[in-house]
Amino acid sequence: MCVPSATIDLSSQANIDQVKTTHLHLNWNVDFKSQILYGNVVLDLVTSVENVNKVVLDTSYLDIQSVTLGENESLKYQVAERYADLGSALTIDVPVIEKTGTQFQLTIQYATTEKCTAVQFLTPEQTLGGKHPYLFSQSEPIHGRAMIPCQDSPSVKVTYSASVKSDLPVVMSALQTGIDDEHDGTKTYHFRQNTTIPSYLIAIAVGNLVGREIGPRSSVWCEPEMIDAAAWEFADTELFVATGEDLLTPYEWGRYDLLVLPPSFPYGGMENPCLTFVTPTLLAGDKSAVNVIAHEISHSWMGNLVTTNSWKHYWLNEGWTVFIERKILGRLHGEATRQFEALSGLKSLQESVDLFGPDSLKTVLNPDLRGGANPDDFFSKVPYEKGFNFLYHIEKVVGGPSIFEPYMKAYVKHFASTSISTQDWQEFLFAYMEETHGPSMVEKLNTIDFDAWINKPGMPPVDPQFDTSLADACYDLAKRWDEARDTDLSQFSSKDIEDFSASQKIVFLERLTDAKPLAHALIVKMDELYNLTSNHNADLRLRWQQICLMSSYEPIYPEVVKFVTEQGRMKFVRPLYRLLHEADNGAQLAVDTYLAHKSFYHPIAAQLIEKDIGLVKS
Ligand code: BES
Ligand code: ZN
Repeated sequence: MCVPSATIDLSSQANIDQVKTTHLHLNWNVDFKSQILYGNVVLDLVTSVENVNKVVLDTSYLDIQSVTLGENESLKYQVAERYADLGSALTIDVPVIEKTGTQFQLTIQYATTEKCTAVQFLTPEQTLGGKHPYLFSQSEPIHGRAMIPCQDSPSVKVTYSASVKSDLPVVMSALQTGIDDEHDGTKTYHFRQNTTIPSYLIAIAVGNLVGREIGPRSSVWCEPEMIDAAAWEFADTELFVATGEDLLTPYEWGRYDLLVLPPSFPYGGMENPCLTFVTPTLLAGDKSAVNVIAHEISHSWMGNLVTTNSWKHYWLNEGWTVFIERKILGRLHGEATRQFEALSGLKSLQESVDLFGPDSLKTVLNPDLRGGANPDDFFSKVPYEKGFNFLYHIEKVVGGPSIFEPYMKAYVKHFASTSISTQDWQEFLFAYMEETHGPSMVEKLNTIDFDAWINKPGMPPVDPQFDTSLADACYDLAKRWDEARDTDLSQFSSKDIEDFSASQKIVFLERLTDAKPLAHALIVKMDELYNLTSNHNADLRLRWQQICLMSSYEPIYPEVVKFVTEQGRMKFVRPLYRLLHEADNGAQLAVDTYLAHKSFYHPIAAQLIEKDIGLVKS
């Protein structure tokens, strides 16, 4: 067992205080039959202290076969027992390197194993086309080590290249630099990522993939059966990228492509550089879920260029990204839309705080991750929405967008290609404001209780008072339903929601999840008038099914089972599994449904659902 030594990142066991990776090259073979990736990784390293005699890397369920210095000097190594969820430290003995700044190269031959949490392999039956297998990776936050033996810490930034041999098309979070034909009929795909990135952004997908251009620097990739729908839904991509450039700095990464994954993809989107991964549940047919694209594009600056240096400061990635996402939407659709999105975000923050409890340390912006805590267990709306509210509050206090927006640009320029902590962020904020606007601005900043925002649990210390103009109609209608008796349902008609946008319908339902459980007669009537059960918008389905489950309305149970087994996005499946498990006569159905579909879910999602429905202690 090896307890993390480097204090900068408690989620990594690597000795990043002694040596740092600068570049890594992957030589991979894709083996769909055994469901593994195998080959080697070549790490370029440089020492940062004197007398280094070992390199400690993160690994998780990897089969390490050999380690050489340069190309062929064999080195001794040990793979430790697993430490909590942080995996097994791989300690490599190297001949003593006396000088600081010495460069050297290690080649590690290895294969992934069936316990890999980073890569999901799908059988042909689990894909749309049904003819070819598929694989995709998801490394954030600490699954990179299940795919590559590496310094799996966001405080270390590397360039990377890769050569991947496969008989199906390969895409990665990098620029493709060529494709070679092999003698055995397969191909080798070459990639290069020239901007330094943390290990959690290395990503791959392999399958029957086709690409279609949707903008001057963008294509969308997916199975051919989906390509028309995807190209239509994401047609506004370039507008978002260009707005991001206008708000911040020129787009750094060359291309901004999208990959639409099979339905088990556990997130809405993942900001893999050059190639954002998204769930197919965004294909609503009405562009109502494209805020996820604006979000992932915003990560091109917040997270991918300026990166948190550990999962403790994760809000620097997500809070800033939500802030920029809403700036983009505000520029394109007006301030009222930004406020509407912020309101709905605040509601989702309240749900996270309610779930964990207002005193829970999981609701702190800088959570304590000592003792081998698993950052996946901390996933919630806290870094996103408390982070957003923090920045929104600062923007207000310093005098609004005319002061704050130039600061955002300066922040990105100052920290581009580095990894930082909350303290680094705060010091720069003060330094910039003082230098640009003088001491009176520092006085304004000093009215903010930074300690409460950063270190105290619960909801934000300040009520943001977002504008409710677009939400009022939703709230009014929700109130009428909440107060209605079985006897006066004639006041409602399908016209009630005729003028609502998709998001307004969702906010209407969202509001009702805060009310007391609805009587079954009201549920029947509401569905008859508004056709909610048959609606295919995934966010709306979530909210509607939540309302029905809160009332233990059994006719919805088969619909819930259908929804949680046809897609595996955690935002939808986790709350629905939890509620089904709590509903009358629902617990066994939740467990049986999960067990029957376990192999459908991504390993990360499976692990968390098991905790949610009490199969595993959380
Ligand atoms: N980086 C996240 C996804 C993620 C978070 C992966 C934590 C692993 C650990 C991504 O940018 C994200 O936030 N996705 C959201 C989108 C939403 C906030 C618009 C999602 O998946 O729902
Ligand atoms: Zn994000």
